[in-house]
Amino acid sequence: MPHIASSVENVPYSRIRELGEMALGMDDVLRLYFGESNLPTPDYIKQAAMRALEDGYTYYTENAGLPSLRRAIAENYRRLQGVELDPKSEIVVTASGVQALNMGIRCALDPRDEALVLTPAWPNGSSSVMMANACVRQIPQPLSDERYGIDFDALEAAVTPRTRLLLYTSPSNPLGWVASEEEQQQLLDFARRHDLWLLADEVYDRLYYAGRELGDAAPSILRKATREDAVMVVHSFSKSYCMTGWRLGWLVARRDLAAKATQLNEFVISHAPSFAQKAGETALADGEPELRRMLERLEENRDLCLEALSGCRGVTAPRPDGAFYLFPRIEGLDDSFTFCRRLLEETRVGLAPGVAFGAGGEGSIRICYAAESSILEPAMERLTRFLRGGA
Ligand SMILES: Cc1ncc(COP(=O)(O)O)c(C=O)c1O
Repeated sequence: MPHIASSVENVPYSRIRELGEMALGMDDVLRLYFGESNLPTPDYIKQAAMRALEDGYTYYTENAGLPSLRRAIAENYRRLQGVELDPKSEIVVTASGVQALNMGIRCALDPRDEALVLTPAWPNGSSSVMMANACVRQIPQPLSDERYGIDFDALEAAVTPRTRLLLYTSPSNPLGWVASEEEQQQLLDFARRHDLWLLADEVYDRLYYAGRELGDAAPSILRKATREDAVMVVHSFSKSYCMTGWRLGWLVARRDLAAKATQLNEFVISHAPSFAQKAGETALADGEPELRRMLERLEENRDLCLEALSGCRGVTAPRPDGAFYLFPRIEGLDDSFTFCRRLLEETRVGLAPGVAFGAGGEGSIRICYAAESSILEPAMERLTRFLRGGA
């Protein structure tokens, strides 16, 4: 009997989904396991999509996305990052951040190549490497003095003649860590020295709390890299504009890779939905006031969670500079999945187990704090009670 290819058979099931699916069968769960805001897409974006449908954006578009959206993305980089991009040759619109990630990885790796992935990280990057028939080497980010860092010695030691790619996420899901300027330079130097593609997942760059003012974007690697560097950046509308269900993102890449990704898009999804692309243009143009309001709320939520956990003995929760997650480490915890399952069954609070995020993730749990206070406050109350030993 024909069998399923072993390369895909070996791709592990997402353990965040596994927990989520258990929770979906239960009533009254306080859901903080998926990485999304519980705010609906703002009305001005929905209206832009409806207008686009009326205006006839119901046909195929270019494989790289509408030229007007690519120009809007380039304009966004100019304004927020001071970076000049050529919208015609360096930006590919994709049907989500995860598709950009998958496409970038697929274009960089041959079967049996190796990719270095900084973890704990959202599992989809490692799984995309496996789907490309390549091998993943996960390099945990060490925690010292309440800040995550990068173990460059471990990275050096992991390089082999087959290593082609280094993937990192900044701001990080699940750590909330944001690469410092110095770390970005070191990552770039490392990639240049070893002839690697450097793939930066920057889908959370607008959710940044350590800038000069709220609303500043976390600095992109594109500020440091030249357009000739083997650098790619993955981005998405999902997180900044509450558009997870729309499936719209983009890839910035060196011209040769961007051209290939554009061509391959034809065979994967052809392009992102036309009217969603038009709505994305409106989000980029008019989204700042709403984004500011969301950031203020997220910052308050982050502080509420940190405050709640500060009273729990044996719990270390580094203060995140970006994204909308806390990743507290719990002393003595060696089975985060069982911890989260019990928490769910006994208190109806749904969190993601640290083990889902690869090497270095076990022993921690991930809290997505992009929820309204009517959910977050009771969830933190129940979690802290559970941590203190009472369900
Ligand atoms: C680090 C990271 N990258 C990419 C994505 C993909 O976002 P989307 O596929 O919704 O655009 C996510 C979503 O959770 C994420 O956390």
